Amino acid sequence: MCGIFSYVGKKEALPILVDGLSSLEYRGYDSSGVYVVGSNCVKSVGAVENLRKKLDGKENTFSGTSGIAHLRWATHGEPTEKNAHPHSDCSGKFWVVHNGIIENYKELKEHLISLGHIFKSDTDTEVVPHLLEEHFKRENDFEKAVKQTLKDIKGTYGLVIAFKDEKNKIITCRMGAPVVVGVGVGEMFVASDPSPILRHTRQVIYLRDGEIATLTPENYNICSLDSTPIARDPEMIEWEVDQIKKDGYDHFMMKEIMEASDVIKNTTRGRLIPENGLVKLGGLEIVADKLKDINRIIIVGCGTAYYSGVVGEYMIEEYTGIPVEVEVGSEFRYRKPLIDKNTMLLAISQSGETADTLEAIREAKRKGALAIGIVNTVGSTIARETDAGIYNHAGPEIGVASTKAFISQITALAMLTVFLGRQREMSMVTGKRICEEIISLPEKMEKILSQKEEIKKLAEKYSIYRDFLYLGRKYNYAIAYEGALKLKEVSYIHAEGCGAGEMKHGPLAMIDENFPTLAIAPSDSVYEKMISNIQEIKARKGKVLAIATDGDERIKELADDVIYIPKTLEMLTPILSVIPLQLFAYYMAVSKGLNVDRPRNLAKSVTVE
Ligand code: F6R
Repeated sequence: MCGIFSYVGKKEALPILVDGLSSLEYRGYDSSGVYVVGSNCVKSVGAVENLRKKLDGKENTFSGTSGIAHLRWATHGEPTEKNAHPHSDCSGKFWVVHNGIIENYKELKEHLISLGHIFKSDTDTEVVPHLLEEHFKRENDFEKAVKQTLKDIKGTYGLVIAFKDEKNKIITCRMGAPVVVGVGVGEMFVASDPSPILRHTRQVIYLRDGEIATLTPENYNICSLDSTPIARDPEMIEWEVDQIKKDGYDHFMMKEIMEASDVIKNTTRGRLIPENGLVKLGGLEIVADKLKDINRIIIVGCGTAYYSGVVGEYMIEEYTGIPVEVEVGSEFRYRKPLIDKNTMLLAISQSGETADTLEAIREAKRKGALAIGIVNTVGSTIARETDAGIYNHAGPEIGVASTKAFISQITALAMLTVFLGRQREMSMVTGKRICEEIISLPEKMEKILSQKEEIKKLAEKYSIYRDFLYLGRKYNYAIAYEGALKLKEVSYIHAEGCGAGEMKHGPLAMIDENFPTLAIAPSDSVYEKMISNIQEIKARKGKVLAIATDGDERIKELADDVIYIPKTLEMLTPILSVIPLQLFAYYMAVSKGLNVDRPRNLAKSVTVE
């Protein structure tokens, strides 16, 4: 989730652009850059503050009244200065900032190199200015060159394009990544969301997919990719900046939970090939042959990432036959793990900076293991120190409690399962079935998210209790622990995760009318066992809130309350069943008036032991 901000008007563009970037920083960043059209470009790694320092005393070399600016959250290529946007072509005439992913950039880059283009970065974005340069040679027209370029690229984009020879014009277009045009008096703005525009104007136009807007200080013209003109009046923004950052939600945690279906789409984009029952994971290509010889996997993570690893263990063992162990980083690093060259260490981390996970990787590598990662933050230490990996593409997670990253971690693990399985005995039919089921998940996810008001009421009903038991079995065993962790960390209420089969070995003693249970009981291979556990709890007067599969009438007779989730493959149920638990924890914390995004005593990234 990068941030774009651009300006065309009559004032000096540089200070407007840099301020605009500062107010987009909440979207996450690893580097930033600004190009003032026809003048100069500056880029810097890290926060916008670093960019300001670089500009200090040099502002007069950036004279001009239009420009494009960008905050990068890396997807392709390390977070370095050369990979920071804006990117330009060989002639330095076309400049581009981009939010999204160009899926066919490798083919395009090879083609452009064969035509003599020289690339300066490792990004997917850089193909765009070079394509513009090529098309301009034939079209000799800025707008036509843009339209031809858009025909070549596949993927998602929110783009702003500047052309050195037309200083009073910028062009923006959208396909799957947000673009908002701000309409001022004698000036126009473009941004990824309205927050940096609001200080200048409240009149905005939300571009739709497939639309191109050509902006000059006085005018905007919108058309479709095939040049059909589109009439659109600006709308008035009523929201305040803080609400915009959270997409209108009260907290980032809620915003991030509500992104779940988009997260699955983003994590899987361009990676599933259902027709052949295959998964394409570009980040594993360099180790694909080595992965064929792996005969043992150790998954390492901490907290939520560890629980996603437990789901991964079940998936990988069931579908690939490779033995898997899962361990928290803090244990792994201090004992004597048995590792050889056919062992693969799989590190899972949202931040890519968790000290215990990182040390586990270093220890495993010292012992000769292949280390791969499932990491959300591109260019993070874990991403760099692993031999290869899968990026989540979940976008920055700002709420301290991990929600959307967990969804994308399990999605990535499901893809890895197909990848490793198809290298072994997994049939094309099974691979196809899993891929198709993953593709159907976003729609199913929307159905669960649409029940948020009912879940809110349930949370209010249960907010009188001080202790909770979370029960799950097989694929939902780890979800019981993850659900309990979410409740603990955001609402400070005591919650215990428990494998349902373990309940009668101790935890059952706690149950009475004041100790409710959240039972994850989808219609899967252990459903009958879960029903027995629920009966045991009810026999001890315990209250039960069950998560069950659509159409399960039987559970209604037993449980006090039921939240329904759609049917999916057993291995994928955790992706759906965790959402009601995330929402439940969120609403419990809100009902107590707590700061959900910043729970006490916790940090987003634990970079110390
Ligand atoms: C829980 C939570 C933590 C993290 C853990 C690992 O909601 O956020 O348990 O999951 O600290 O962090 P990463 O994934 O950044 O390695």
